[in-house]
Amino acid sequence: MADTLTITDNRTGKTYDLPITDGAIRALDLKKIKTDAPGDTGLLTYDPACMNTAACRSCITYIDGDQGILLYRGYPIEQLAEQSTYLETAYLILNGELPTGNALQDWTYQIMMHTMVHENIKKFMEGFTYDAHPMGVFVSTVAAMSTFYSDGKLIFDTDRRKLQILRLIAKTPTIAAYAFRHSIGRPYVYPDNDLGFTGNFLNMLFKMTELKYQPNPALERALDVLFILHADHEQNCSTSTMRGIGSSHADPYSALAGAAAALYGPLHGGANEAVLRMLQEIGSVANIPAFIKRVKAGDGRLMGFGHRIYKSYDPRAKIIKKTAYEVFEVTGKNPLLDIALELERIALEDDYFVTRKLYPNVDFYSGLIYQAMNFPSDMFAVLFAIARTVGWVAQWEEMLLDTEQKIFRPRQIYAGAGHRDYVPMAKR
Ligand code: ACO
Repeated sequence: MADTLTITDNRTGKTYDLPITDGAIRALDLKKIKTDAPGDTGLLTYDPACMNTAACRSCITYIDGDQGILLYRGYPIEQLAEQSTYLETAYLILNGELPTGNALQDWTYQIMMHTMVHENIKKFMEGFTYDAHPMGVFVSTVAAMSTFYSDGKLIFDTDRRKLQILRLIAKTPTIAAYAFRHSIGRPYVYPDNDLGFTGNFLNMLFKMTELKYQPNPALERALDVLFILHADHEQNCSTSTMRGIGSSHADPYSALAGAAAALYGPLHGGANEAVLRMLQEIGSVANIPAFIKRVKAGDGRLMGFGHRIYKSYDPRAKIIKKTAYEVFEVTGKNPLLDIALELERIALEDDYFVTRKLYPNVDFYSGLIYQAMNFPSDMFAVLFAIARTVGWVAQWEEMLLDTEQKIFRPRQIYAGAGHRDYVPMAKR
């Protein structure tokens, strides 16, 4: 029989035919495979870290990890990085199609009209200590936004939902820039909506006493490309967190704060900060062989290498490497580049990395660009969060409108103590 899976349960001798759809069986179909043993509620799949479990159907992002292909709504990431802008890509990710000229103009206007944050958010942010990590500030402030926009709870009201999406995409750069200015003790800069999305972000970060900030076009474009590359990446750790929190019907600010918290970790969005620390620790090309030896012995990881899905060169890493050279033409070469290039060369020839299919990921070169553009390393994950905001909200909306979805609730295999009676303190 075509497109079915026949399973024989050797415990009972019974045979089951399970339909295969889109290369998957439904885990719930396994529930009918059971014995007469008391407490047997049917067969489970055991999949720690969801290594081989699809939790949703999605039409947003396609990845072929073996071939290094990444498509947003069908469009290759290379073409978007070359020809699109972040806001146009954001429209595509959210709406499924590229905008017409008028639609893009309207979308850009709407986003730029929502860049200001409530003055009390500014005051609230002033309460953080001077050395607070900007990502911690970002996560907390996004969570606090739920208290400013109580209509955020109306997640099934289409207009209100669209409004929160606009607010989130428009205001995360403002919050990020305030977090940065706070960390260096400079006054916050209000948005300048004459500038584009990314140009205005640079304005809010770097404006000093000049009347009007003029972003360097090459750096503005490079940052815009980096935002495009980070806009979505299907069901990664932070996006799954967004969907997971959103599945309880929490407001999108609370859900997005959770997603950003997941991104904060060094195995996810914190990796490019870790790459830079690693390059600084290595210090010179001469120290690379000893470093690689340590990694191979299990003492630490080569940060910026390896990916759960890509088992070939991450297509984003290729574009970022090219962008790095364009940025260095303006800023001068980042001295850590030589170490990174040599590290990559050696690792790509080394059996340990080759057999495990460990290639540079999106984070390997992005930190070098950000550093050359004068971002401190603790801002790197925040930049990632700005770009990923559209992916998070698009995936959240898709989840909300998917009639198959319910509150996220995985099963477990209980491996603890069996039933036992409470022991009074005196008898322990
Ligand atoms: N350096 C050295 N060895 C590595 C690395 C690395 N960067 N990544 C994986 N390995 C090894 C593991 O030790 C393991 O080896 P073993 O089979 O001998 O035990 C094998 O490769 C498989 O690794 P896993 O940890 O099982 O792979 P997983 O898919 O769980 O991890 C991850 C993926 C977390 C990205 C991992 O490769 C890693 O830690 N990389 C460094 C951190 C990083 O760059 N993260 C950014 C990811 S991209 C993003 O989130 C935007």
